[in-house]
Amino acid sequence: MGIALRIIYITPMSKLIYILNGPNLNLLGKRQPEIYGTDTMADVEAACKSAAQAHGLAISFHQSNAEHVLIDLIHKAREDGAAIIINPAAYSHTSVAILDALNTFDGPVIEVHISNIHKREAFRHHSYVSHRADGVIAGCGTQGYTLAVERIATSLG
Ligand code: DQA
Repeated sequence: MGIALRIIYITPMSKLIYILNGPNLNLLGKRQPEIYGTDTMADVEAACKSAAQAHGLAISFHQSNAEHVLIDLIHKAREDGAAIIINPAAYSHTSVAILDALNTFDGPVIEVHISNIHKREAFRHHSYVSHRADGVIAGCGTQGYTLAVERIATSLG
């Protein structure tokens, strides 16, 4: 009597990092390049994708000028996201609503600022999002995003 053997290969789904960008970052590369540099959001997305893939992670990359869209994306990350990297841009300094949304998310959160907000105007020195962030990277240019991916890879083990 023969024995039928069936081998089922299950490919594990990559853990998903939500990378969220707030207002005016769609103009990255053109907007105040002396502060934010010349890389575009597309360049940042490509760099984050390859950094994440090197660790077997996937990314879901977004930019929005609307606070509610960022909040909806944080709610989505509650369903299928393992971690969040967020540059809330000007909403860092104003949005209790984004802080409240992040407080509903259980995984690691890294806040990124391309510029060093502490070297700039006083109104940029406080970030509501920092009350929730597990780590904050500021002043490392767009490299801050890939540094954040590396940190998430370490946190997720
Ligand atoms: C920023 C700093 C914020 O103060 C500013 O409003 C931005 C970008 C940064 O990446 O350096 O839009 O978050």
